Amino acid sequence: MRVHVLHENDVWSAPLFEALKRRGVPFESWHLAEGRFDPLAEPPHGVFYNRMSASSHTRGHRFGPELTRHILSWLEANGRRVVNGRRAVELEVSKLEQLAALAAYGVPAPRTLGAVGREATLAAARSLGKTPFILKPNRGGAGKGVQLIEDLDRLAAVLDDPETEAPLDGLWLVQDYVRPSDASITRCEFVGGQFLYAVRVDTSDGFELCPADACALPSGREKFEIVEDFDDPLVARYGRMLAAHGIEVAGLEFVRDASGQAFTYDINTNTNYNAAAEARVGVSGMDRLALFLGGELEKLRRAAA
Ligand SMILES: Nc1ncnc2c1ncn2[C@@H]1O[C@H](COP(=O)(O)OP(=O)(O)O)[C@@H](O)[C@H]1O
Ligand SMILES: [Mg+2]
Repeated sequence: MRVHVLHENDVWSAPLFEALKRRGVPFESWHLAEGRFDPLAEPPHGVFYNRMSASSHTRGHRFGPELTRHILSWLEANGRRVVNGRRAVELEVSKLEQLAALAAYGVPAPRTLGAVGREATLAAARSLGKTPFILKPNRGGAGKGVQLIEDLDRLAAVLDDPETEAPLDGLWLVQDYVRPSDASITRCEFVGGQFLYAVRVDTSDGFELCPADACALPSGREKFEIVEDFDDPLVARYGRMLAAHGIEVAGLEFVRDASGQAFTYDINTNTNYNAAAEARVGVSGMDRLALFLGGELEKLRRAAA
């Protein structure tokens, strides 16, 4: 029995594989950029951890999430222990699903409208009634396609520009722009359903905020900074929302406006940790994850013995 890691990015998954090796946890990489499976067969035994990413298409892995969702349904139908199951993929690839899930647990989000089609998107932005505003694809990824739009004319120009990539699922989101009071956002990391830490991310370089070590910018100042003793009522709400959807590993992002109000706008179920920021405070998300997955595998072994 081993831990099966469902993913599509060897670079992002490498730190996890290293952590599993260090902990002596047997694992197998299921790289699901492409592949095949037999829904009538019996799946292997073990723990299955899904870290399929919404941005897979930016690496040429257009249908990774579709393949993964079906494999997860097959694993779940066969009663396998799945960490971040089918529901996690559904949320990963849809910000509208994320926002609905957050709202149900009393987590404030920026006002957002989803729209399909040019006219509906313009009408949605008109009814937001505030400028500037944010335009983003429903199926997001590493900040790609997230734009600050100054007015409706600019929105029309962006939508009509042949260089603009249409959202993969046809859905545009228009959203209130929350101007951060200190040019940062905060990401709250959960591992094994438990809150691990909050990390403050400097946004002065723009909207593409990949925390993976492979995405680090060669800049002088620290882009990622772990906030020790982060204590906010949001954490408990996040925890309840994640549990309700069977999501055990996630990073939730919020931005605080000048009045101090926090607005949550993104849930990442494929999470990366910044090793430099972690080293400064002596914590490792990947090690926690390896420990958690190893523990779940151990539970299965004991039950089978
Ligand atoms: N409503 C918003 N107000 C202010 N900044 C935002 C808003 N939405 C997104 N951003 C900025 O853009 C970044 C990427 O947006 P996000 O929704 O997280 O997309 P992705 O899923 O691609 O990461 C955020 O981390 C944040 O810095
Ligand atoms: Mg994000």
